[in-house]
Amino acid sequence: MSSRAFPPDFLWGTSTSAHQVEGGNDNNDWSEWEEIPGRIHDGTRAGRACAWWEGMAEEDLAVAARLGQNAHRLGLEWSRLEPEEGRFDDAAFARYARILDRMRELGLRAMVTLNHCTLPRWVAHAGGWECSAAVTWFARFARKCLEALGTRVQLWVTLNEPAAVAGAGYAMDEWPPGRGNLFAGLRALSTMLRAHAAAYRTMKDIDPRCTVGIVVNAPLLEADRAQAADRIVARLQDWSFMGAVIYALETGLLLPPLRAVPKRVPFLRRSFDFLGLNYYGRYAVRFDAREQHRLFGRHVQSPTVRGAVVDWGQVSPSGLTRQLLRYARLRVPLYVTENGIANGADTVRNGFVRDHVAAVHEAIQQGADVRGYFHWSLVDNFEWSEGWAPRFGLLSLDVATQKRELRPSADAYAAICRANALGP
Ligand code: FCB
Repeated sequence: MSSRAFPPDFLWGTSTSAHQVEGGNDNNDWSEWEEIPGRIHDGTRAGRACAWWEGMAEEDLAVAARLGQNAHRLGLEWSRLEPEEGRFDDAAFARYARILDRMRELGLRAMVTLNHCTLPRWVAHAGGWECSAAVTWFARFARKCLEALGTRVQLWVTLNEPAAVAGAGYAMDEWPPGRGNLFAGLRALSTMLRAHAAAYRTMKDIDPRCTVGIVVNAPLLEADRAQAADRIVARLQDWSFMGAVIYALETGLLLPPLRAVPKRVPFLRRSFDFLGLNYYGRYAVRFDAREQHRLFGRHVQSPTVRGAVVDWGQVSPSGLTRQLLRYARLRVPLYVTENGIANGADTVRNGFVRDHVAAVHEAIQQGADVRGYFHWSLVDNFEWSEGWAPRFGLLSLDVATQKRELRPSADAYAAICRANALGP
């Protein structure tokens, strides 16, 4: 096959989040969670993580630039920037400013996530995303970030995967705060959507030219068998996890199950300039009456990649094309904000990247306005409740010594980034 070119100005990068790489974050809900025995499956903690806060951010980002990348998605840690309610830390803002300045020197465009799965302890102790004050707190935080860092940031993301956070932490009890109550999950999700929209409006009021979007998790959820029960729960999961979320952001209407009774929230309507999709794979959904926290659907697909601790689904590049085409109708630019595979031995990452980049190309050919691809991740990092076991990095990391090594797939991805094309 001949080489498949991407549009000029296409963004090629990798994605990280604050808590997973920075190290020394001990004032957020995850640091508390990690202290509870059994909560992190392999018994580890984020700890020093990838030592980005101490200075390794600049080193790793320089490698990203050398690998031909022209963008990076990174997160801000709210608990550093606002360690107590209403008290903002200038030194922490200055540290992020230095990282972003270095990115500019390196030719890396900045996509910055305001909130990626963690909350300051003071927000968590007030009820986290179930507390409606979180809406105004988050909007104030967004304002501060824009004022302090706005000139250095090209693309802002308010929230990362609100449905995943509400699902894992509130509907289920796998992540903090471990509520394990479906209604808490739905409450948290609507609060997060309102917080997103409040942040969006605040930022656009201050600077109408800033570009602000949201990142959703976009797994392909399909019925396992050709049975009505499987089809219904697959549709229900898809609707609750993505459909209702996107519909609310598009129209301002919160429909069931986000609310028992439909509710119009006008400031939610069209509250995004772009949409980011995190895509890992396909799930086969089977009806199971015992799985009420998961809306009566169990995921039964056989994992394609052995050795992954968690099931990130079945590898399915065509699913990425389908999800991109599905959201193309929103008529906003789309970005693949995360896509990757836990594969420490690096035996399949190369093919995974090529196949998914080809899937993005296919979506563009079919009319989707995709503007960038951010691989998860640049360097092995702390993988939430899975600890350090899954290895997603283009760079491997020895956590104890902080030594990095390039995995062979890093060079393969670099060839794509440099050519702005997928070679034959
Ligand atoms: C995504 C998260 C990201 C990382 C990857 C593997 O759902 O957004 O932080 O954990 O999964």
